[in-house]
Formats: sequence, C-alpha cells, structure tokens
Amino acid sequence: MPNITVNLPQDSYAIAIAPDSLKQLGSQMKQLNLGNKVLVISNPEIFAHYGETCLNSLKEAGFDTYTHLIPAGESHKHLQSIQAVYDVAQANHLERSSTFVALGGGVIGDMTGFAAATWLRGVNFVQVPTSLLSIVDASVGGKTGVNHPQGKNLIGAFYQPKLVAIDPNLLQTLPLKEFRAGMAEVIKYGVIWDADLFTKLEQHNQLDSLEHVGSNLLETIVTRSCQAKAEVVGQDEKEAGLRAILNYGHTIGHAVESLTHYQQFVHGEAVAIGMVAAGKIAVEMNLWTQAAADRQNALIIKAGLPTEIPQQLAIADILETIKSDKKVSAGKVRFILPTAIGKVIITDQVTPEIITQALGSKL
Ligand code: GLY
Repeated sequence: MPNITVNLPQDSYAIAIAPDSLKQLGSQMKQLNLGNKVLVISNPEIFAHYGETCLNSLKEAGFDTYTHLIPAGESHKHLQSIQAVYDVAQANHLERSSTFVALGGGVIGDMTGFAAATWLRGVNFVQVPTSLLSIVDASVGGKTGVNHPQGKNLIGAFYQPKLVAIDPNLLQTLPLKEFRAGMAEVIKYGVIWDADLFTKLEQHNQLDSLEHVGSNLLETIVTRSCQAKAEVVGQDEKEAGLRAILNYGHTIGHAVESLTHYQQFVHGEAVAIGMVAAGKIAVEMNLWTQAAADRQNALIIKAGLPTEIPQQLAIADILETIKSDKKVSAGKVRFILPTAIGKVIITDQVTPEIITQALGSKL
C-alpha cells in the first residue's frame, strides 16, 4: 500500500499504510530522528492485543520505552486523564525530544496528541490507529483534545503527528459495531470528495463487516479516505474554511448523540443518521436530487448503519441542540450539504422551517 503525505506549510508528515507493519514501527520512527524515549499510551484492551508487538519493535530499534494505560471509553477523555500522562512523563524524565505514541482509537489518539502538544510545550507525537474510524479520520489532521463537562472536545489544540503508522491488520480485533461506525466516515468521503470511491463502494455487495469488505476493498477504503483527508487538511489545516466539509453529517449527528446521552449510538452511527438527515435537507432545498440521496442512503444501509432519528427525539429539541453546536458562527448554524456525489457546499441558509419540513419525511 502506498505512503500518503500530508503537505503542510510546516512539518509535513507521512501516513504509512502497510499490513503487518506494527512490527516495523520502531524502524519507521528511527528514520525520523525522534529522540530516545518513547511513551506508549493505550487502553488495556488494545494493549493486551498489540502492546507487546509495539514495545518489542520500539526496543529492537533502540528506543527506551514507557507505557501508560487509560481505561477505554469516552468517559475517560478528560483533563484528569491528561494529568496522569504528565505524571508518568515527569516520573520518567521525558524530554522535549521524546515521543508520545498513541496506540488506540480516536479517544486515545485525541488524548495522546493533546498531552504531546502541552507537555514541555510540545513533544513528538506518533499515531498508531487501531479502529477504522481513527484510521480514516481521527488519526490524520492534528485535531487533539479532551471533553469538558459541558461538551465534547471543547478543550484542545491543533497539533500534527510526525507520523501516522497504519497497520490494517489491527482491524481484525475491532468489534463489528466499531467497524460499521468507521464505514460511516468512509461513505462520508465518497459523498463529500471522492465520487470514484463512492462508486467502488456501490459496486461491492456487502459493506457491513471486515470479512465482507475483504482485503482489496479495505486497501482502497483506507488509502482513498486518508488521501481525501490529507488533501483537505493540506488545503486548510486549521479549519478556516474547506476543512469544515469533513463535518458532513455531524451537525444533526452530534445533536442525536447528545440527546441520547451518548448511550444509544457510537459516533459513526450518529454521523450516518446525520448524513441521511443532511441529504433530506439538501433535497428539500433543491440542492440535491432524490436519486442521489437514495444512492447515499443505500450505502449507509449496506454498511449496517442506522438511518433514522429515534422517534422519541422531538424536532424542537434537535433544533435547540443544534444552536449550541461548535459549528454555530455569529448565531447561524453552518450545514454541509451535498450538491452531487463527491461535492458539498457549506451554507448558513438552512432555516428551522426547512429542517422541520425535511426531517418530517421518512426515507
Ligand atoms: N474529523 C474532522 C476533522 O478532522 O476535521
């Protein structure tokens, strides 16, 4: 599989994609002159599967290794967990030339990146993503952070990794629900950026598990999604404009996640529901054809993802929650809406009346 470069004004970096490459992590990092001390941050489940391979690879390459485990899950993504990372870094005298390695999914990646951005005003950071969602989205682009009691990811920094080392074989232990959640972000890239990826997904019979996707399509999914993310981030690192298109499906998706108290849906499932809703809004505004929306929704269903906002959620509550979203600017809600397969616009012209009208209709 090819290497992809995230081209940035400062500190461009590689996304290295190769099956079974965790064993080469140490030699990959050695080539980047990253100092001697490496702190691997993971969660106990992921570390039980991959910690030994990761540490052996680093030690064989001559690194001194340290480990810190954070319990799995979004409920641990807060500043106290970061304080514990600082304590380990301090106890082991990690220096500015040292490296924090995130071995895990999006939660571990976001927290490790934030700790790396802030410890000694910034140490090296390497992403080793282990979920499909973190491979195709969260590990690339430098968004790091933790949650505040009042909202997700309210504390954070843009801080780019030195390397994203992707070993697709690590997906073999990923729970099915998490695999499907990652597929939501893959379909997102097809709708917002890469019509050819979208067509390739349409041509495949089943998308609802790693086994059904198979190694050939998985290679396409990983490389094309990372390529799309690298192109968008390369043009707009700090989300001044274009990068907002990566939030397609997230406006209503976040509202659904929040109103169901993060208990009913994992993030990718909520994004799938949000993409269906955004498609309805785009059709309602005559920006998108019903035929194109049907094609998007068919892919979401084929990936085993939910499509409907739960009946118990009132549209009035969704409208209220959307107003407090991070994407609100000057009091106007910003929506990403498709205009063709592979093309979206950013608009603040979506009124509560349009949303109410569009969301009232079933698939
Ligand atoms: N996940 C959206 C972004 O990285 O901008």
